Amino acid sequence: MAHHDADPSLSTPNTPHLNDLVDARLQDAGRRGLLRGSLGASALGFMGGATGLLAGCGSNDSTPDTAVAGITLVAPSRPAALGFTPIAKSLTDSVVLASGYTATTIFRLGDPMTASTTAYRNDGNDPAASFATRAGDHHDGMQFFPLGADGKPSTTASDRGLLAINHEAITPAFLHANGVSVTGTGNSQVRTSADEVLREFYVHGVSVVEVRRAANGAWSTVQDSPFNRRIHTLTDTVLSGPAAKSPAMATKYSPDGSRTRGTINNCGNGYTPWGTYLTCEENFAGYFRRITAVDDPKRSAKEKTALARYGVAGTGRELWATVTPDTGDNLYGRWNAEATGAVPSADYRNAPNTYGWIVEIDPYSATSVVKKRTALGRFAHEGAWPAKAVVGKPVVFYMGCDSRNEYIYKFVSTQVWNAADAGGGIAAGDKYLDDGKLYVARFNADGTGSWLELKFGTGAVTAANAAYAFADQADVLINARLAADAVGATKMDRPEWGAVDPVTGAVYMTLTNSNASNRTLASTDAANPRHYNDVKGTSTNQFGNPNGHIIRWLEPNGDTSATSFSWDIYLFGARATANAANVNLSGLTAENDLSSPDGLWFSNKGLCWIQTDDGAFTDVTNCMLLAALPGTVGDGGTKTITNTDATGATKQVTTRVGAAPGTAKLRRFLVGPKECEITGVAETPDGQTLFINIQHPGEDTPAASIGNPAAFTSHWPDGGLSRPRSATIAITKNGGGVVGL
Ligand code: FEO
Ligand code: CA
Ligand code: CA
Repeated sequence: MAHHDADPSLSTPNTPHLNDLVDARLQDAGRRGLLRGSLGASALGFMGGATGLLAGCGSNDSTPDTAVAGITLVAPSRPAALGFTPIAKSLTDSVVLASGYTATTIFRLGDPMTASTTAYRNDGNDPAASFATRAGDHHDGMQFFPLGADGKPSTTASDRGLLAINHEAITPAFLHANGVSVTGTGNSQVRTSADEVLREFYVHGVSVVEVRRAANGAWSTVQDSPFNRRIHTLTDTVLSGPAAKSPAMATKYSPDGSRTRGTINNCGNGYTPWGTYLTCEENFAGYFRRITAVDDPKRSAKEKTALARYGVAGTGRELWATVTPDTGDNLYGRWNAEATGAVPSADYRNAPNTYGWIVEIDPYSATSVVKKRTALGRFAHEGAWPAKAVVGKPVVFYMGCDSRNEYIYKFVSTQVWNAADAGGGIAAGDKYLDDGKLYVARFNADGTGSWLELKFGTGAVTAANAAYAFADQADVLINARLAADAVGATKMDRPEWGAVDPVTGAVYMTLTNSNASNRTLASTDAANPRHYNDVKGTSTNQFGNPNGHIIRWLEPNGDTSATSFSWDIYLFGARATANAANVNLSGLTAENDLSSPDGLWFSNKGLCWIQTDDGAFTDVTNCMLLAALPGTVGDGGTKTITNTDATGATKQVTTRVGAAPGTAKLRRFLVGPKECEITGVAETPDGQTLFINIQHPGEDTPAASIGNPAAFTSHWPDGGLSRPRSATIAITKNGGGVVGL
C-alpha cells in the first residue's frame, strides 16, 4: 500500500493494538492446542460464540494468516481477579488513584508540539496563531499507536508510540486573557475579537503526538517529533463514500461537495485493523448559526425536517459566525448555515451536512489526507468500535448516536478482510469504509434483537416515506437518523462508548443517562427499563434514568455481520444506597457505585475499563475510572422492576440483568479532580501503561471569575492559582506490571 509515501521510513507499517490482540490470542490458543483443526460446537458455545481472530497474524506466530479455517474463536481467558484495592469516592481537586500506582501528567491544553513553539503561558496571552501547534482543549477519545525503536510502526512497542487524541470542545473563558469578548443579547450577540475565535478554531480537533518512556520509567511527549500533527477546524478534509459530491454537500468552500473544512466536536474514537485512527463528530449541529425565523422561509419542507431532526438552529454555541468583517475565504461566515446566496454553492447552508461523520486519520503519516467516511452515516457520532477482523469476512464497526432517544448502529463492509491490508492506511480505508451496509438496532423485550438495514428503496426508506421522502442512498446516509426512525429502531438512553470484549466477542455500550422528559415512565422498555428518582444532596429530585446503564449484545455463532443478536444489561449505574429491587439492580457497593458510565474500553487482557461523565452523583464524588471483569450476555436473568415517576404513577418493566459483579469484579480505580469528565483510554501493548484523559476540570467556574484566580473551582493539574487544563495522564504500576491486575 502506498499511503505512507509521505514518509519513506514508514514503509512497513503494521496494525497496532488489534494485532496485539490477535497475537496474544493466537499464542494462547497455541498453548491450548486450538490452532489446528476445528472446534466442536460445544466448545464454541462454551466460549460464547464469539468471533474469530484470524486476521493479521503477527510475525511472532508461525500460523499463516488464512490457514485456520473452522475456528471461530481464539480468545484469551479472563484474568481471575483485579489486582488492586478499591478507592473511596472523592471530591478533592486531584487525581486520586489506587495504592501502588503513579499517574504522570504528560499532555496539557496548550503544550507545545513543535521545537519552535513556546511554553504555554496559560494566562490567555499566547498568540492565536501559536495554537495551531499546541495541544487542543477538552481531551477526549484516544488511541495508542506503537512505534519501534527504528521509528516504524510496531505491534509490540510499549515504550514509544503516537497518541491520537480528540479535542472535543473548549472551556472558552480559560483560553482568553479576560474571558470571551462579546456584546449584545439574544440573537444579536456578537463576538468582538477575531483573534479569540481563531484561537478557538485551533484548539478543537485532533492531536497526534509522540510519547516516550525513559529508562527511568517516566513518560513524556516528544515536543519536536516529526510525527506530531494537529488537525483542527481549518484542516482541509475529503468527503468520501456514497454521500460525497451529493448536491446536499455543496458549499461555497467546495461547490461539487467533495471536500469540507475541518472537523468538530470530536468525541469518542475508534481504530481500524489497517492501522488508522477514527475520530467521531458528535454535537456538530450546535456550532452553526441558523435563526429559524430568518432561514425557515427560505427552505423546503424536506430541508426543514432534516434541519430540525439534527437540531441545526440557534446562534451557534460559540457565536463563531458573528465575527465581522469576515475573511475572503469565509473563515467565520462558514459557520452561518442560513441560505444567504442564490444557490447552495454560493453559501454555507449545507455546511452542517459536511459534519457528523466518522473521520479517518493515518497517525503514522503526518501529511496524509483526512477523510470523512460517509458510508457510516451521519449522526451525533460518539465513536466507532471494530469487531475483531476475520480474514474473508466483512469488517464491522459498532457506533452510537449520543443523544437522548437516539440509536445504536453498525456498519458492515462490502469488501472482506484481507490481512495483507494491515498497515494499509487511508488507502485501505477507501477499500473497506466507502462501501457497505449501515444498520440500526432494535432491542426486543424477549432478549433478542435485530439489525435493520438503512437502504434506500427498501422497507420504509423510500421516496414514499411520509415523514421524509428519501431521494437516494446519499440522502439516507446524510439523514441516517430519519432513516432509523423510519425502520422502527429502539430509542436508547444516550449511546456513549462501546467496545468489543476480546474474550467473548460481546459488544458493550454505555447508555449514559436520560431524564424524565426523554425517558418517561410510559416509554420505559426492556432495554431502557428504569424511571426512578435519584435524590441529589438532600432534596434535588432527579427522575428518569439519571445514573445510566451498560447494555451488551452478542451476534450468533461469532458472525458479526449477522442481522440478529441476543442482549442483556451488564450493569446499572446507581448509588449503593439506592433501592435494590428497582434501582441498584447490579448490587453496587461503596467500592464500585457509579453514575453515568460514558467511556468504556477493553484492554487486550480482557479487563474492562469504565469511565464516568456525570452530573447526578457529583454531590458525593467527582467522576471516576473503574475496572471490571465482566461475564457475558445472559449470565444473569430476567428481573421485573417497578418504576415510579414524579406523580407517584408506577409501571412494571421486565428486563434482563447481567450477573451482579460484586467488588471482586468491579472496583473503583481512580477519581478525577473537580468538575472533570474522565474519558479517553488507551494502553501500551504490554498493558503496563494506561493513558486516560481528564477533560474540563473546573468547567463550572463562573465566566465572570476569570480575573479572580482564587475563585476558579479547579487548579488541576498545575496547582497554585493556575487556570485548570484538560490533560492526558499516564498511569503505571509502581515496580512494573499490568495496570489493574
Ligand atoms: Fe461527547 Fe457523548 O460525549
Ligand atoms: Ca463521550
Ligand atoms: Ca459524555
